[in-house]
Amino acid sequence: MVNMQELTIRRPDDWHLHLRDGAILASVLPFTARRFARAVVMPNLTPPVTTTAAALAYRERIRAALPAGADFTPLMTLYLTDSTAREEIDRAAASGAVIGCKLYPAGATTHSAAGVTDVRRLDAVFERMSERSLTLQVHGEVVDPATDIFDREALFIEQVLAPLVERHPRLHVVFEHVTTRAAVEYVCGARPGVAATVTPQHLLLNRNALFQGGIRPHLYCLPVLKREADREALRAVVAAGNPRFFLGTDSAPHARHLKEAACGCAGIFSAHAGIELYAEVFEQLGALGRLEDFAAHFGADFYGLPRNAGTLTLEKRSWSPPAAYPLSPGELVPLRAGESVAWAVRG
Ligand code: NCD
Ligand code: ZN
Repeated sequence: MVNMQELTIRRPDDWHLHLRDGAILASVLPFTARRFARAVVMPNLTPPVTTTAAALAYRERIRAALPAGADFTPLMTLYLTDSTAREEIDRAAASGAVIGCKLYPAGATTHSAAGVTDVRRLDAVFERMSERSLTLQVHGEVVDPATDIFDREALFIEQVLAPLVERHPRLHVVFEHVTTRAAVEYVCGARPGVAATVTPQHLLLNRNALFQGGIRPHLYCLPVLKREADREALRAVVAAGNPRFFLGTDSAPHARHLKEAACGCAGIFSAHAGIELYAEVFEQLGALGRLEDFAAHFGADFYGLPRNAGTLTLEKRSWSPPAAYPLSPGELVPLRAGESVAWAVRG
């Protein structure tokens, strides 16, 4: 039942999340586990999670870090490299714990140095993924430093993604954290089996926010925020309830001192308000009735997983994220730090 003050939805899932490891994992995991029943956990640790054995061990560390009584299932991914073997795909599928493999073009983003230099080298791996029903999660930016950073996603579609999707007609592909009108148009027109995740920041902000009164390192992520016309395209497609577009926060914690630096890290931490910020967006769009589909239905349906059983209630109640959350070492500046968020999770 939708009204302006309260909204109960099926428990949502986060289809793109960075949890890190060790002390950071322990600090950030409770925020996600409180809101989301499942999350697709990105494999860009150092060293990256390139094997099923490493993914299973990482899953155990995540489970061990869960707060008592938490009901949360991590869905694991493997990090593809130039030397990923087909047998590793078989092991991943047989494990039942790995939902897909992440393609990072080498050098595209945080901890992507071990990523793929030429996707064609992995065609046999993609074929095996198709056979074993593992999804390919794609960071969609070209890495040529001569390409304007605002054009890297659009160029990636043309040069890499569209040909890959056509070469592997049965492969399930998620174009992660789409940021541009070009990406929206591509995904809308692509063959069945192609979908996209959308972050809160790319729905809420355009690139002006990076320079609002001075440089804003905590709003720097990759792919970088784009222009207003791109944000409008993202907002229109989620408001329309297109099932190819679903929730993936891309919450990516970095300690404050690593972001407030001469060369600051890319990544925005949003798990503390991981569903609330989307509620704001859908309310602004007059589409609160579609939040549940976006957050709790479309992703599960795309991945062929059951929808969650429980519910989550959101209330229209303004609250203020703190200036920082403790992290050891350092601290973590969350999205909207010291400002306000219009919706809150009940309980
Ligand atoms: C992510 C990270 O910090 O791991 N950073 C980001 O800006 N989104 C990596 C990624 O998803 O690109
Ligand atoms: Zn990410």
